Amino acid sequence: MLHKKPARYFSALIGFVLVVSSNVQAEPAAPKLANVAILATGGTIAGTGNSSTATVGYTAATVGVDRLIQAVPELAKVAKVTGEQVFQIASENMSNEHWLTLAKRVNVLLAQSNVDGIVITHGTDTLEETAYFLDLVVKSRKPVVVVGAMRPSNALSADGPMNLYNAVLLAASPEAVGKGVLVSLNDQIHAARDVSKTNTSTLDSFKSGDLGMLGYIQGNKPFFYHVSSRKHTVDTEFDIANLQALPQVDIVYGYANMGPVALNAFVGAGAKGIVHAGVGDGSLSNKVKPALIAARKDGVLIVRSSRVGQGILARNGEANDDELDFVVSDTLNPQKARILLMLAMTKTSDSKEIQRMFYTY
Ligand code: DGL
Repeated sequence: MLHKKPARYFSALIGFVLVVSSNVQAEPAAPKLANVAILATGGTIAGTGNSSTATVGYTAATVGVDRLIQAVPELAKVAKVTGEQVFQIASENMSNEHWLTLAKRVNVLLAQSNVDGIVITHGTDTLEETAYFLDLVVKSRKPVVVVGAMRPSNALSADGPMNLYNAVLLAASPEAVGKGVLVSLNDQIHAARDVSKTNTSTLDSFKSGDLGMLGYIQGNKPFFYHVSSRKHTVDTEFDIANLQALPQVDIVYGYANMGPVALNAFVGAGAKGIVHAGVGDGSLSNKVKPALIAARKDGVLIVRSSRVGQGILARNGEANDDELDFVVSDTLNPQKARILLMLAMTKTSDSKEIQRMFYTY
């Protein structure tokens, strides 16, 4: 009889435990944080001034990535971050070689299952160029966010820490997947293709002009209102995995009384492509046009762009591009047209194919 009692009590105890446990609200598991790799390249975000009010005349690229991360402990609330010092330069010194090194590192990291997104800290002077280059060669849908700052790290109301926090939050967010390379400063989200630095020093310097930014970051959340209509990242035809160098492409700047000296100097120095940053809708002066035609006849690829900064560069508008066998840059500014032309020339020298690329990316 005794042996029956314990069995009865035991099954009652099991029943009691099951009832209790089913009613106890289990603590919701903390959400798993995304793994975000921060690749630091230098710039003002890593700069220091000789006083807290020195917002110009400071030294860029002096603070290492570990200190940038330590300065924003809140990062740990939005992602599991790692830091890597890829370069430590002012971004006016960014080169084709830096771009190839950075892009290859980004692609290696994004292929790893333990990396969910990447943030690149960068000087603002050429930030838009690096971002657009990456937009054309990164082979992943995972978020890549390029971030900088307009004030050095030790300035009053430095913008770097909040820009970095927002960039990491964006790189960790599912909403940013598949959107192409993004640029985030000043609580805004921009597409790499359309954003430019528009002011030498103010906090709202980065703008996307007529084509508009993609959204905002507010209250620890990204809000997207647009997506880029042009191909990027995994949808591009460009692959730099085995590329050791990019072809030399230079930009000639248009202005009243411009002559062919600069153009001829670039061609003489081996330029394989020229972007003409013309006045207005890419107009060619009578002094420069013959030199451009001669360069084209020598096999140099010519892209007509504009110094204006907004609007479509119309094919066969200010010049007969069909007859001259020139390419037009669509809405890309000269510095971004140079990037697309360099990558296009790794695939073809056919100007009609290259024109297709300018209407695709
Ligand atoms: N020397 C500039 C650069 O590294 C400073 C500007 C900045 O980073 O905001 O791009």
